[in-house]
Amino acid sequence: MSRETVPAWVPNSNVAYWKESAERADGFIFVVPEYNHGYPGELKILLDSLYEEYAHKPVGIAAVSSGHFGGARAVENLLPVLVTLSMYPLKQGLYFPNITELFGENGEMKDITYKKQAKEFFDELKKRALVMRGLRT
Ligand SMILES: Cc1cc2nc3c(=O)[nH]c(=O)nc-3n(C[C@H](O)[C@H](O)[C@H](O)COP(=O)(O)O)c2cc1C
Repeated sequence: MSRETVPAWVPNSNVAYWKESAERADGFIFVVPEYNHGYPGELKILLDSLYEEYAHKPVGIAAVSSGHFGGARAVENLLPVLVTLSMYPLKQGLYFPNITELFGENGEMKDITYKKQAKEFFDELKKRALVMRGLRT
């Protein structure tokens, strides 16, 4: 894939795959690392590259940080952007603080309380995706 120096919102080959995926999606999960109390600039570029493909679809955020707050500050920055894109963010978020300590050597999660939270998160996203798909058609 060639890198084109065009603004994110001008149609270009770099976002063709994302556009196709976003069009088909009934909902989104964004996994977001916290960078200097914000979210990564690459995510903003990706979000700005489309518009109507996001509208009236639910979105869940799983945030990650090496500090104690699990990316909560990145999420607070991201939420108004998602609302402006006419997305419907879930109230429930998944927050993963101290990420370097959360997984064992074999990649297993040390804290099983996340399983319950993750189930609620996925159940709610699925429910909204089904309802909102009906509203869009
Ligand atoms: C540029 C940069 C800024 C970061 N800023 C924060 C921060 O403000 N708070 C925090 O808890 N962790 C911060 N971290 C740690 C990341 O949130 C953490 O390492 C995360 O897992 C990085 O995900 P990645 O490997 O996908 O980049 C920062 C990491 C980078 C690279």
